[in-house]
Formats: sequence, C-alpha cells, structure tokens
Amino acid sequence: MKGLVQFLVAKIILLVLASTFVHCYDPNPLQDYCVATNGTNRAETQYRFSRISTSVTANDFFYSGLNIPGNTSNRLGASVTDVDVRRIPGLNTLGIAIARLDFAPGGQLPPHIHPRASQIILVLKGQLSVGFVSSNDYNYTLFSKILYPGDVFAFPIGLVQFHANTGKTHAVAIGVVGSQDPGVIPIGDAVFGSNPLIDPKLLAKAFALDVNIVRHVQRVFSSEGYIVK
Ligand SMILES: *[C@@H]1O[C@H](CO)[C@@H](O)[C@H](O)[C@H]1NC(C)=O
Ligand SMILES: *[C@@H]1O[C@H](CO)[C@@H](O)[C@H](O)[C@H]1NC(C)=O
Ligand SMILES: *[C@@H]1O[C@H](CO)[C@@H](O)[C@H](O)[C@H]1NC(C)=O
Repeated sequence: MKGLVQFLVAKIILLVLASTFVHCYDPNPLQDYCVATNGTNRAETQYRFSRISTSVTANDFFYSGLNIPGNTSNRLGASVTDVDVRRIPGLNTLGIAIARLDFAPGGQLPPHIHPRASQIILVLKGQLSVGFVSSNDYNYTLFSKILYPGDVFAFPIGLVQFHANTGKTHAVAIGVVGSQDPGVIPIGDAVFGSNPLIDPKLLAKAFALDVNIVRHVQRVFSSEGYIVK
C-alpha cells in the first residue's frame, strides 16, 4: 500500500513537471478540441484554458476572408494575413495555423525567423523567389528556389527565411505552419528597431557598418512600424 502511494505521488510529480514543460510547446491534444477562451491581448495564458465543450460551435473552427488581398501599400510591398489561434480559437492545442501572403511586384517579406514552427507555402499566383539559410553547423548554406503557381516549398523551424516577388504581377501564396501561433522575428525589426534601440556603436562593429548608417537604419526601422505586428 505504502509502495503504491509512493508510486502515485512520484507519478503525479512527474506529470506536473511534464505539463509545465508541455506548456512551453504546442502540446499534443488530450481531448478532441480545447477551444481557446477569447481575448485580444497576446498574454500566453489566454490560450491555456479551454471553453466549456457544450458552448463550442462550428464558428470556433471557422474564419472567412482569405480570398481578400492584403494591403501591400507599405515600404516592403508585402502583407501577411495570419489566421492563427487569435482568429480561430479552435486551433488552440492543434499545432497548426495558416496565412495568406500578398506581394506587390518587387515586394518582399525580408529575412525573418519563425521561432516556434516550420512552414510550408503554396504559390497560387505570380512568381516568388524564396529561400532559407542553414545554421553554423551546416555552413550557412542558402537553399533557394524560384516558385510559380502550384509550387510548394518548406522552411525548417528557426532558420532565417525570405520570400520576394520577382515577377511582374501581384503574387499570392498560402503559408501553413506547425504551430497555433508560430511567432515571427524579422531580423531588421529585431536588430535595428528594438525597443529601446541597441547601442548604434555596438551594431556598427557587429555589422561592419559606419555608425551613421546604423543610426539611419535605426530611424527607418523604429519609425515605419512593423510589417508583422
Ligand atoms: C468573448 O468574451 C466576451 C466576454 O466574456 C463575450 O461577451 C463574447 O461573447 C466572447 N466572444 C466570443 C467570440 O466568444
Ligand atoms: C492600405 O494601406 C495604406 C497605408 O497604410 C493606406 O493609406 C490605404 O488606405 C490602405 N488601403 C486600403 C484599401 O485599405
Ligand atoms: C561544412 O564545412 C566543413 C568544412 O568545409 C565540412 O567538413 C562539413 O562537412 C560541412 N558540413 C555540411 C553539413 O555541409
């Protein structure tokens, strides 16, 4: 009996530790669905709690509007319409999300990282030059490709990637990620538009640039707003 109690206590401790860990990653579902409670801020806690199953409806798994082109009137000429757990609360714990990517001619999504997901894209319209760069262990190798309608390309989690419209027309792609909320780190925004700014002298040395150029780039990044908020 004592042995059994000890065994159960040990098992509970393990489960608690395991669940603390699991919350830091898209967890494996323990139930059919775990629809997120609604909320408008990004506080991570809002996604942990599920609504009572009987109040769940088809609309919790639904979003309409990816037929609508995103607004590409910005410096980069590109736009991302994310449909993640914020738009479909039923995605909570499912480890997937989708997005529409729009590119004006010459537009691009500059080098960025999705810290929490691999991504796969399907080109619907236009021509895209895409690629990613491997890490130090793989010699910073560039893997790139020109994509046309019907082409699919995958980007491993955590690597620097980019997408650029190299055609003469508007380009559209659908991106699917392996996270309900993959996150994004545009390298320029993170390095030159951080809040507060990183010491420009430090960046000048890091990137072998004149400090006035760094100050200029910092002004651009901190004044224009982020393409993906
Ligand atoms: C979100 O929460 C508010 C307040 O609890 C509620 O009134 C509203 O109906 C909820 N919306 C959805 C889509 O669940
Ligand atoms: C697109 O964005 C620009 C810049 O923010 C804005 O001036 C313009 O009105 C927007 N166009 C549409 C159709 O929303
Ligand atoms: C990286 O470069 C080193 C040195 O040239 C080589 O030995 C190694 O095999 C390369 N690794 C990969 C993954 O290409």
